[in-house]
Amino acid sequence: MWGGRFADGPSSVMREINASIPFDKKLWRQDIRASLAHVSMLSKQGIVEEEDAAQIIDGLNQIAQEYETEGVPENLDLEDIHMTIEARLTEIIGPVAGRLHTARSRNDQVATSFRLWVRDAMDDVYDGLSELRDALVDRAKEQADTIMPGFTHLQVAQPVTMGHHLLAYHEMFARDSSRFSAARERLNECPLGAAALAGTGFPNDRKLTAEALDFDGVTANSMDSVSDRDFALDYLMAASQTALHLSRLAEEVIIWASQPFGFVKLSDEWSTGSSIMPQKRNPDAAELVRGHAGRIVGCLNALMMTMKGLPLAYSKDMQDDKPPVFEAHDLLGLSLAAMTGIIKSVSFVPERMRAAADSGFSTATDLADWLVRDINIPFREAHHITGAAVKLCEERGCDLADLNVADLVAIDARVKGHSMPDLSVEGSVVSRKSYGGTAPEQVRKQIMLLQQAKQL
Ligand code: ARG
Repeated sequence: MWGGRFADGPSSVMREINASIPFDKKLWRQDIRASLAHVSMLSKQGIVEEEDAAQIIDGLNQIAQEYETEGVPENLDLEDIHMTIEARLTEIIGPVAGRLHTARSRNDQVATSFRLWVRDAMDDVYDGLSELRDALVDRAKEQADTIMPGFTHLQVAQPVTMGHHLLAYHEMFARDSSRFSAARERLNECPLGAAALAGTGFPNDRKLTAEALDFDGVTANSMDSVSDRDFALDYLMAASQTALHLSRLAEEVIIWASQPFGFVKLSDEWSTGSSIMPQKRNPDAAELVRGHAGRIVGCLNALMMTMKGLPLAYSKDMQDDKPPVFEAHDLLGLSLAAMTGIIKSVSFVPERMRAAADSGFSTATDLADWLVRDINIPFREAHHITGAAVKLCEERGCDLADLNVADLVAIDARVKGHSMPDLSVEGSVVSRKSYGGTAPEQVRKQIMLLQQAKQL
């Protein structure tokens, strides 16, 4: 390809370190699509004869069919997918194939093909997130009244509902969806026509190729166009944050499924046995989702390290942009599918959650709130009185709900003449009706709002 001024061929290591075909062959569909758009524009602009363009188009379509059925051949000498396609085109239609590369360079070509690939990847993740979000909303609706302990520091804090807990994850994944749509919008400018770095002297029409490739517009600076990989970093950043959320949800599932908790039972489909302990039902899929998050963040790190310190415009380091994105996308796709499957199929065990919610004096805040609301005691003092009541329960080995007014009067005389508040976990949950609170009525309201927003 650059043989004109080289006497010797490359060393075998040079050939190997130089080649990206083992991984960039994934871009073949996008590369052919971009070439078809490019050659149609060249012909429309009179840069390439119509007949030549027609031959190139037929040849490219034939290659697409070949790759679809036989896969992409891997010849390291051809370096990358762009040269592989061009070489095959030359075999099929002869030297006229060489006209395809008029008014472009591999630099804008790779930038375009990779953008198209990442755009599809973003759309995939967006769809995967929608399915997971739907599953969370469905399960939340079904579990809107199911009481469980809410935790802070993984210590029982206040009773909440499983529906509320699941909707918290819905919020995280909704933000992830919006990060992917914002990233897609930023990505959606076409760099094709920037050529090597300086633009081209041919009378090209960049708008035409951009439209043919469903871009919203064209990039404004040819040097930035060929050296920008922000779209790939945007993908990896959004992917990393999604992976963090998936990992947190995975950790909840792992804890909930453990015997001391027993809040959920994993379906057979999403658990594995042990080769030595017949009683085991392990949450391997959730553990791998937790593990994959680390690898996905590693991919983000890898591309950030590749890009840092690169002067304009293209440098060969940038060929290393694809493996981390491909790897992250595979891992994220699996993680999303696994977590969606787990959420759809997990069985909840309300008795265990209810019993755990009753432990740890989870309604202590309700007692303090009652002292404030009904007896007009400042909250700080109410907190102190409630602390003393908890201590009394610990000494007696009973719950807060087992205390009577006389017990409280002994702690603080101002309670005299009042009757005991409802300190049941049900009462606590139902009372937390503030907007976004855990009361089943609020959870159902949030679900209704989500369902309405989806219909818009
Ligand atoms: N294989 C290269 C890559 O993926 C194609 C771009 C080559 N450009 C160049 N100036 N050598 O990045």
